[in-house]
Amino acid sequence: MSTRLNGKVAIVTGAGAGIGAAAARRFATEGATVVCADVAAGHAEETATSIRDAGGQGRAVGVDVADSGQVRSLAEQTVAQYGRIDVLYANAGVGGVGTAVDTDEAEWNRVIGINLTGLWLTCKYVLPHMVAAGSGSIVNQASIGGMRGVPAVAAYAAAKAGVIGLTRQMALDYGPSGVRVNAIAPGTVPTQLVQGIWAAGAGLVSADNLDERIERAAAMYPLRRVGTPEDIANLALFLASDEAGWVTGAVYVIDGGKTAV
Ligand SMILES: NC(=O)c1ccc[n+]([C@@H]2O[C@H](COP(=O)([O-])OP(=O)(O)OC[C@H]3O[C@@H](n4cnc5c(N)ncnc54)[C@H](O)[C@@H]3O)[C@@H](O)[C@H]2O)c1
Repeated sequence: MSTRLNGKVAIVTGAGAGIGAAAARRFATEGATVVCADVAAGHAEETATSIRDAGGQGRAVGVDVADSGQVRSLAEQTVAQYGRIDVLYANAGVGGVGTAVDTDEAEWNRVIGINLTGLWLTCKYVLPHMVAAGSGSIVNQASIGGMRGVPAVAAYAAAKAGVIGLTRQMALDYGPSGVRVNAIAPGTVPTQLVQGIWAAGAGLVSADNLDERIERAAAMYPLRRVGTPEDIANLALFLASDEAGWVTGAVYVIDGGKTAV
């Protein structure tokens, strides 16, 4: 077991699947006690169980990040049980398909409510504990879709652009208190979220089956592959750790070179 997060307490939202599950396991392997939060409580429990089975410290909590009461209680319960929160990986998110015209208000509010408002709420209730401790690292999940155009994902792109703005803003407000706030902007990782976007006919690739879609997506990347949840977890680990001690307000693109094109 490596020790890059030894003794730290980390909350990972959206830890029940995809990138969040990979990050929760990676953080635990590096010595963190990980609170695995997800609206799908059973999936969060699966991640926490896999952490404990591997000899790490993991606990599951069912939390909808769009519900301020649940998020507040996640922060308070974590501090009550473990004494502090050193790391927050605000990763929970959903896909959303539609242009500006054909997105209806309910879908707009759902996607913004989870991907942007939910992330803000999580930061809002975790930050006071980090400020009181005089240290902490927040890693916010953005997307390259928040930095450049992606067809037919209006609410999603707006939410992720909002995450980038909020990240920079919080970095300024809480840097003097010793809290670092950074964002990760991944390219395509073919998780359930992305498969849902593809199935709805949006995104930059179309093909009949999943393997073909992944292959066509990979061809658009200079490294000629799509990302894995573990690729993103490795970057989140760096930003969460003390190795990134002079990094704040930054937006890290991790996309196999796609935005360099
Ligand atoms: N996969 C990609 O290509 C990609 C690219 C850029 C950014 N992202 C972002 O990465 C994050 C993780 O996505 P993923 O690809 O691993 O997706 P995923 O669908 O595999 O996992 C998302 C997890 O978030 C949970 N979740 C959804 N709504 C929630 C809520 N209201 N409260 C708490 N948990 C909730 C889900 O239950 C699920 O376990 C998202 O924010 C997504 O926008 C993904």
